[in-house]
Amino acid sequence: MAKKILTIEFEEWENESSLDEQDSKLLNKAREAAGRAYAPYSRFKVGAAILLENGEIIEGNNQENSSYPVGTCAERAALFYASSRFPGVKITSIAITAETGEPIPPCGMCRQALLEYETIQQKNIPVIMAGKTGKIWKTSSIATLLPLHFDHNYLK
Ligand code: THU
Repeated sequence: MAKKILTIEFEEWENESSLDEQDSKLLNKAREAAGRAYAPYSRFKVGAAILLENGEIIEGNNQENSSYPVGTCAERAALFYASSRFPGVKITSIAITAETGEPIPPCGMCRQALLEYETIQQKNIPVIMAGKTGKIWKTSSIATLLPLHFDHNYLK
């Protein structure tokens, strides 16, 4: 038996003043998107903004439903719109935010959804995570957030 350990490495900053201009702009777009979320049931508004290699920024927010499981997260709303509007265009980075104190990381399902695109494009997608103000978390890739993952390589 061999014991194996996978770790998640991320950066934490006390505030967003240390973000570069591109990340800061993306985060502001995610914040605007969070403000437009349709979240009457959880009242937890989430926003995501995706920067594409062609310079486009695609925003998304959570869309809930009276039949709860039907709703979708901000990340997947943004991701699927980005891929449907600009198929095959690589994703440069994604910013995610909610009106909370702590930064919010993407849920497990969104990590898997994002991983699909990261794997196919063969280029890391850094993730910038933030709350309403204050602390920022950043990882260098989606795979970092989902160690020991399943991807298309297993289907070959
Ligand atoms: N939510 C997101 O949009 N993204 C996440 O990463 C976590 C959760 C949404 C789903 C639901 O509308 C609400 O937040 C509460 O779970």
